[in-house]
Amino acid sequence: MPKDWYEWHDLYNTEPVLQQRLEIVREYIAYSLNASPDGAIRIVSVCAGDGRDLLGTLKNHPRAKDVSARLVEINSNLVERGRATIESLGLIKQIEFINGDATLASNYVGAVPADIVIVCGVFGNLADEGELNRLLDNLSFLSKPGAFVIWTRGHSNGIPYSDNVRKVLGASGFEEVNFQLTATGDMAVGIHRYRSESLPQPKEQQLFVFSGVPRTAR
Ligand SMILES: C[S@@+](CC[C@H](N)C(=O)[O-])C[C@H]1O[C@@H](n2cnc3c(N)ncnc32)[C@H](O)[C@@H]1O
Repeated sequence: MPKDWYEWHDLYNTEPVLQQRLEIVREYIAYSLNASPDGAIRIVSVCAGDGRDLLGTLKNHPRAKDVSARLVEINSNLVERGRATIESLGLIKQIEFINGDATLASNYVGAVPADIVIVCGVFGNLADEGELNRLLDNLSFLSKPGAFVIWTRGHSNGIPYSDNVRKVLGASGFEEVNFQLTATGDMAVGIHRYRSESLPQPKEQQLFVFSGVPRTAR
């Protein structure tokens, strides 16, 4: 079992569920880029890990030149790896990797409201439904009206946790664009569009509390 989030990322090398999840997330990022009107595309990634979902998509995508992105991640080793990838892709002027706390609204100032918001590996690391509601409510600060929000949620012990996520998203002003389970059957990936107004100021400085640990979380 991984001891920290850097080690957790090694599971991408061996775990089909994470490999399949990544493939779907990249498909949804590419879909969002393709669907974005001509001109600049702003992206934020919340708890970005090493950024492999976005960076792996931009590598071969014709809209990469239009993207300006901010990725926020607390683990400095993951940020270092992400920054090295950004450099190797020649995207250093367009993509910032912030080594900081993604739960704080201040770390998004100047990068939002975004056209694409990536919240992968986050919903399963919230304490309860109240915290999920809080985060979704606060997404009105991160998202432009019409923004694509890409998310994941693992299932466990036969409990389809993503059912609740979809219910809460639907009740919070998000419209489902697509939803898939991995072939392993225990990981959900969704893409929604934000159908309400964005807020110039956050409702709260702390957008959510990340309470997961790498040993148990996906
Ligand atoms: C399940 S991993 C997901 C990583 C990435 N989004 C992905 O899907 O591959 C959760 C990530 O959240 C990061 N994290 C945990 N608490 C954080 C915080 N307060 N601010 C920023 N990142 C945080 C961890 O370091 C870890 O990289």
